[in-house]
Amino acid sequence: MSENARYSKRTQGVTGSAIRELFKLTARPGVISFGGGNPSPAALPDDIVSDISRELVATNGKVLLQYGMTEGLPSLREALVPYIEKEFQFKTDANGILPVTGSTQAFNLLLDAYTDPGDVILTENPTFLGATQAMHLHELRVVPVESDDMGLRMDALEDAIRKHRPKLLYTIPTFQNPTGVTMPLERRRKIAELAAKYDLLVAEDDPYHSLRYSGTPLPTIKHFDTADRVAFMGSFSKVISPGLRVGFLVCEPKLLRKCVICKQSDDLHTANLNQAIVEAYLRRDLLSPHVAAVCKRYGEQLDCMLDALSKMQGVRRFTHPEGGLFIFAWLHEGVNATDKLMEAVEKGVAYVPGTYFYPEGGHDSTLRLNFSNSDIPTIQRGMALLDECLKA
Ligand SMILES: Cc1ncc(COP(=O)(O)O)c(C=O)c1O
Repeated sequence: MSENARYSKRTQGVTGSAIRELFKLTARPGVISFGGGNPSPAALPDDIVSDISRELVATNGKVLLQYGMTEGLPSLREALVPYIEKEFQFKTDANGILPVTGSTQAFNLLLDAYTDPGDVILTENPTFLGATQAMHLHELRVVPVESDDMGLRMDALEDAIRKHRPKLLYTIPTFQNPTGVTMPLERRRKIAELAAKYDLLVAEDDPYHSLRYSGTPLPTIKHFDTADRVAFMGSFSKVISPGLRVGFLVCEPKLLRKCVICKQSDDLHTANLNQAIVEAYLRRDLLSPHVAAVCKRYGEQLDCMLDALSKMQGVRRFTHPEGGLFIFAWLHEGVNATDKLMEAVEKGVAYVPGTYFYPEGGHDSTLRLNFSNSDIPTIQRGMALLDECLKA
């Protein structure tokens, strides 16, 4: 038996996240990282979370430190109903919401509950690496669909649905990772229609929705979902703290029940204390002012990075996001962003080569830049280093 044959077929050929590997290389002291998707340290509300935690444990510690229900804290589920209606523009009730351990878990539960090995899943091209990793671990056939500066192309999507008969579409319609682009309203409506027409389940992943710095908020795909074919995933990672690991899933009752069963064997339940902290943010109206302050900071950082990009000769074009955490850029033909990365790290700046986000690889001259995790002087310094490196 070859050494590899010992391990599950599921994990054969699935490499660790390239980004997490790159982190190790780029985590040298002094390297400015535009690589990860971390919130700014200044945006992590440690003081408030510390006060809330102390109070919660003092008043309700015996409940919060005990095992909890897989379905989540009932009081959080109730607090999520008006939040979801206001923020994401669709109606649900407390029983239709499952608090989860980050939206990463929501997606894995959906794949557990809804797919079998060999099923086809459609994605944007490029798409979020964490999601493609989950697809591969579930042994799905990943079919990327042509996407443009407004997200998935509707003609390409309908062709792919007809051709591949997919079980699921995974999409990040708002401030997409890695491109930062946002799908316009008509495409959102059309996706809901296609889902109903072809009995396709849409997994709508929307962790960046509230991080809007310009333009007008758009309704979600779920808003148009009259046939209950959209499973919606939200997250508090980017708006409060990724370390809390709290997100939520909203989908039709039978599918939600199956996800609860899968969650029982996965982690039993999401940490009670963390759910209660998020609930306190919602009930005490702490989230809106926090998000407003974060948006002001990130909006200025985004403008600073866009301004630097517009002056860089080595960059052929780049996206102009209205929110989120990322800008995607195209270098000149023939310039390989992976090759350039080590040179950039030597100079003191890091990014993620775009090729990793394309399920079928290629697109070697692209890269993703994060602007949330560095303050303005750091962005200016890092972009000057990148400019030097790309000019060379
Ligand atoms: C599109 C997308 N979905 C989900 C996640 C992970 O969210 P969570 O921390 O809630 O698991 C990320 C994190 O980068 C992301 O970019």
